[in-house]
Amino acid sequence: MDLPPHFHAASKTMRFIARGASAELFALDDGRVLKLFRESVSDEMIAREAAASLHASSCGVPAAAAIGRHDLDGRRGILYPHLDGATMMDWIRCNPLRAGWALDQMAAIHSAMHAVSAGSLRSLKQVLATDIAYGPAPIVVQQAAIAHLEALPDEDRLTHGDFHLGNVMMTPQGMMVIDWSKAAAGHPAADAVRCEMLMRFGIGPSDWVTNLWRDWAALRLNKAYLASSAITRRELDMWRPVVALAWLRARNASRTSSFLRYLNKALRQAGLPTLP
Ligand SMILES: Nc1ncnc2c1ncn2[C@@H]1O[C@H](COP(=O)(O)OP(=O)(O)OP(=O)(O)O)[C@@H](O)[C@H]1O
Ligand SMILES: [Mg+2]
Repeated sequence: MDLPPHFHAASKTMRFIARGASAELFALDDGRVLKLFRESVSDEMIAREAAASLHASSCGVPAAAAIGRHDLDGRRGILYPHLDGATMMDWIRCNPLRAGWALDQMAAIHSAMHAVSAGSLRSLKQVLATDIAYGPAPIVVQQAAIAHLEALPDEDRLTHGDFHLGNVMMTPQGMMVIDWSKAAAGHPAADAVRCEMLMRFGIGPSDWVTNLWRDWAALRLNKAYLASSAITRRELDMWRPVVALAWLRARNASRTSSFLRYLNKALRQAGLPTLP
């Protein structure tokens, strides 16, 4: 991404604010933050994150738009405006009784995002096919799932790919979506079931009380999403098995047995062979 003419070097005063799976975030003293990526993150992923955040924001999706690339001490980085507020995850911990309201808002933002065309982003169908093919499922399951995926309708909607409570921030201006590195052009139902999986089986606490809450929150999100979009339950059912199978390639190991039950149920529902 070219740097805009008003760009100037990041300030020397940097305050550490957060650490994610792919990067560390530092607040500068001028209203910006610098996201410095780990070495394991590819250049392509960094470029995609910046481009998708700009595209989303320019299309009216509430997103922190990249200001420019800025590398520091050999580490690759992106500058963003500093969002004032907490992630939705932290906000819900402090406001548990308002969780239902917040999840409904999050679902409405998700369906509004899906009304936007993805521009030049990569194809989600291709990403899913690659992840299934390089994942650990037996070849017979992979082949049936890829044939099923190929028969599903292609769409060019803006999909986030990592739409979870840690990637939505609660600011005085409303909810803002961050972390666009997994964005793609695809079918809204694929992104909606991915969000359901992140809520139920994604990184984070997985004690039984939290799991009950997670399952409830996923149901609430789905309900609100279906109410605010033209997508049907049937479409979610058709995309669920392929998105879940693709996730097996990179998934962290929490709630593994429930996730496998969920995956097999989704495969069965779509008439596909199941995992042993
Ligand atoms: N523009 C911003 N302003 C203020 N804080 C931010 C901003 N962007 C990110 N953060 C903080 O940094 C954290 C990590 O950011 P981000 O999700 O972009 O990193 P990541 O390493 O890609 O995350 P993940 O663990 O989801 O891969 C966020 O949860 C949030 O607390
Ligand atoms: Mg994140």
